[in-house]
Amino acid sequence: MSRKYLIAGNWKMNLTPSESEELASGVAKAVGKDASVEVVVSPTFTALDRVSKIIEDSTVKLGAQNMSPKASGAYTGEISAAMLRDVFTKYVILGHSERREYFGETDVLVNEKVLFALESQIKPILCIGETLEDREADKTLEVVKTQLLGGLESVEESQLVDVVIAYEPVWAIGTGKTATPEMAQEVHASIRSLLSEKYSASAAEKVQILYGGSMKPANAEDLLAQADIDGGLIGGAALDAASFGALVEAAKKAP
Ligand code: PGA
Repeated sequence: MSRKYLIAGNWKMNLTPSESEELASGVAKAVGKDASVEVVVSPTFTALDRVSKIIEDSTVKLGAQNMSPKASGAYTGEISAAMLRDVFTKYVILGHSERREYFGETDVLVNEKVLFALESQIKPILCIGETLEDREADKTLEVVKTQLLGGLESVEESQLVDVVIAYEPVWAIGTGKTATPEMAQEVHASIRSLLSEKYSASAAEKVQILYGGSMKPANAEDLLAQADIDGGLIGGAALDAASFGALVEAAKKAP
C-alpha cells in the first residue's frame, strides 16, 4: 500500500499566537525531520505566520482551518488562498462539521472551496460525517455519500491524489465518544468504494482517509490498525505536544 499515514492537528479557536508558537515548537521538536508519517498543524489565522517560521526546519506542515472560495476583493472577514500560500500553508480543513453547523456551510460552498484550494495548490482536507440523529435513523452512509460526492463535484481524477478526506462522526467530536474501530472502518471502506466508483480503484487506493472524533493516544492504535484508516484529524489531543507526539508515534508503528 502506497498511502502514508497523516496526523493533522486542528487547533480550532484556541491559543494566542504566542501560545501557538509554544505548541508548534513542541510538535516540531517531537517530529524533527522524520518523514515516515506526514504531520500537519492547523492554528488560527493570526498564528499561521509565526507557526510557519517555527516549523520551517522540521517536516511538520502548515494547515489552515478555512478559506474563502474567492480569489480576492470585497469579502469582509475572509482569508484567501493567496494569503495562506504566502505563509506556506500546504493544507486547508474544509467543511468541518462546526462550520456546517454554526456557519451554515453547505456542500455547494464546501465544493467551491475544495475546487479553489486545488487550483491554488493547497491540499483540501474535506470533512464529512453524520450526526447522532443521522446514525440513529440509519442514514450514516447516505449522509456521508451526499457530503463526499457534493464536496468532490467537478474534481478531476488527476486532482484526487491531492485531496484528503476526514471522516468525522459529529457525535464523536469533542465528546470523548469515539466510533469503535469497526464502525469507523465500515464507513472508511464505503468512502473508498464510492471514490473507486466515481474515479477508479487505483485513484481511490491513493487517497488518505483520516478518522476524526476524540482520537487520542489511548484509542489511536486500534483505529490506525484498520485497513482504510490512514491517520487522524485531531482536535483536543492536538493541543498538547506530548499527546499529539504520541499520536504521531502510534502512526509510525501502525501496520
Ligand atoms: P476532537 O476534534 O479530536 O476534539 O474530537 C476533532 C475535530 O473536530 O477535528
